[in-house]
Amino acid sequence: MANDNAELIRILNQALSAEYGTLYLLPRHIAEIQDEELKRQLHLIGEVELEHAEKTAQMIISLGGEPTGDLLNLRPRRNLKEILETHLQGEREAIDIYGRALAVCGDPAMRKQLEAIKMDEEGHQRLIQRTLDRVISAKA
Ligand SMILES: [Fe+2]
Ligand SMILES: [Fe+2]
Repeated sequence: MANDNAELIRILNQALSAEYGTLYLLPRHIAEIQDEELKRQLHLIGEVELEHAEKTAQMIISLGGEPTGDLLNLRPRRNLKEILETHLQGEREAIDIYGRALAVCGDPAMRKQLEAIKMDEEGHQRLIQRTLDRVISAKA
C-alpha cells in the first residue's frame, strides 16, 4: 500500500507541476492575444487549472505526501499559433498525467475527482484544438 501511494504521489506532483506551469504562462499569453473571446476562454481555463492545482495538492497531502512543483520550459510564446500549440501540448500532457494517476489510484472518491479533472482537460484540449484549427485555416 505504501508503494502504491508513492507512485500516485509522484504522478500527482507531475500534475501539480503541469498545472502551475500553465498558470504561470496563461496571463503572459493572454496579454499577447488580441481576440477578446479567446482571452476570456483562456482566463476561464486558468480558473479551472487553479482549482485542479489546489485539488491535486490536497490529494497529495491526503495520501501522506508533500506537494512539490518543478517548473520547466516556462518561456512565454509570442505568436498566437505557438501560444495555442503550447497550451494544446500542455492539455495533452495533463490528460496523460491524470490518466496515469487513475491507473494506480484505487480510492473511489479520489478516482471521481481525477476523472472529473481529466474530463476538464479533455474539454480544454477540444477548445484549444478548435481555435488552433481556425487560426491555421485563416492563415492558409
Ligand atoms: Fe488542469
Ligand atoms: Fe486544462
